[in-house]
Amino acid sequence: MPEARVVIDLDVPGATISRHLYGHFAEHLGRCIYGGFYVGEDSDIPNAGGIRLDVVEALRALQIPNLRWPGGCFADEYHWKDGIGPKADRPSMVNTHWGNVEENNHFGTHEFMALCELLGAAPYVNGNVGSGTVREMSEWVEYLTREGDSPMVRQRKANGRDEPWKVPFWGIGNEAWGCGGNLRAEAYADLARRYATFLKDHGDNKLYRIAAGAADDDLAWTEALLKAVSCLGCGRDPKNIFQAISFHYYTVAGSWEHKGSATDFGLDDYYRTIQKAQGIERVIKAHSALMDAYDPERKIGLVLDEWGTWWDVEPGTNPGFLYQQNAMRDALVASLHFDVFHRHSERLVMANIAQTVNVLQAMLLTDENGALVRTPTYHVFEMNKGHHDAAVLPVHVVEGRTHDLDGTAMELVSASASVKDGRALVSLSNLDPESSLDVVLDLRGADPVEPIGRLLTASTPQTHNTAAAPDAVAPAPLMVEPESRGLRVTLPPHSFATVSLEL
Ligand code: AHR
Repeated sequence: MPEARVVIDLDVPGATISRHLYGHFAEHLGRCIYGGFYVGEDSDIPNAGGIRLDVVEALRALQIPNLRWPGGCFADEYHWKDGIGPKADRPSMVNTHWGNVEENNHFGTHEFMALCELLGAAPYVNGNVGSGTVREMSEWVEYLTREGDSPMVRQRKANGRDEPWKVPFWGIGNEAWGCGGNLRAEAYADLARRYATFLKDHGDNKLYRIAAGAADDDLAWTEALLKAVSCLGCGRDPKNIFQAISFHYYTVAGSWEHKGSATDFGLDDYYRTIQKAQGIERVIKAHSALMDAYDPERKIGLVLDEWGTWWDVEPGTNPGFLYQQNAMRDALVASLHFDVFHRHSERLVMANIAQTVNVLQAMLLTDENGALVRTPTYHVFEMNKGHHDAAVLPVHVVEGRTHDLDGTAMELVSASASVKDGRALVSLSNLDPESSLDVVLDLRGADPVEPIGRLLTASTPQTHNTAAAPDAVAPAPLMVEPESRGLRVTLPPHSFATVSLEL
């Protein structure tokens, strides 16, 4: 059996892996909000104020740190005042980006904040730059976060909420180069400065303002935003206007027209997907290097507020609803993203998978009969929970394995590790779809005890969970054996594992 050696320095803790790298995203898109999170008070499915309780319970187990809402593209056509007050009085609108369906605004500001409270997640509200106004966005912040007495506070109180909420994260539009207004970079950079000026901190609520960033490695976009708040070598404090710049990176293995099936794929598709997912490291490095030039003290955060796999929709479903299955392959896309995130946690401060329920690379799939399915990706989030706010540890995969794809050697072993509260957590992925792998964990700097191994795998990379077979892909114990320099585990083909150790 092939063998890999993974060297881990247990006594060299590095940057903190922000728990916000495990953030989420819920858009008014398909069945993410309506039918996913929110079924309405009259539903037979158990709910609190219309919010589905089994969804809340499943997500609480992930300790999801933040939730981005209401979009995505939808954010730039959303008018928040249509989503407050008695539901019967709320005006409808057409959701032009996602299926051209009617949006009745029954899930609005109060419902979102109630959802965040139920989940224990910090709200990340994304404001409307594309079709909104500065006043509208500024009043939304006032409505949500101001105490005492003011025009917006009086409206909030009239709608049943006396106390202000805490809103730590605020997005200034979304994909402004595309669905958010088709703006040029410099035009958006000026708008971001203007909007940020009127996004006030009320009382002790401190907003972390996130400018809408690039697609993939569009560095010119990021540079325009950096130039808007700083200049090369001038020493100006860049973080006074907005505090972070986002970007989006999706794993689309085929073309946008033919993205491929989530579950019906061959070996070549598998390798291309993994290679595309691994590309996230190149893109993070490129943005980070540019940011280091303008912001050497790393005051501006990099936020990947949309990432994940994007497949053709499931046959027979609305093409505008982006409903896709989620297989063991998707779990590996997630696990290798997290290894990359951990390595770059000095600059990358937040990431949000797209999207939490029923859309793209979801954690949960639901149906109107009350079924709730945890996807393989869900289990990666759960198994990696120990990395939240832990200190990253140096990890070197030596004697790993590679696969030649079109003349490029792809790494087939991915790993990362962290330490928190006297325990280390090691994450390991065997990306080889055909061969098992013996992994020696070469542990330096401490003699850990009580290893606990967990394994996520399935008979094929196509295996996925359904209402009829909800645990086809589910975590199981993994045998961890002592070895002269550390520990040894055997990873089946296409598998993800964690080993937790007491130091
Ligand atoms: O996540 C789906 C869509 O993908 C979002 O609305 C948009 O920001 C991106 O293009």
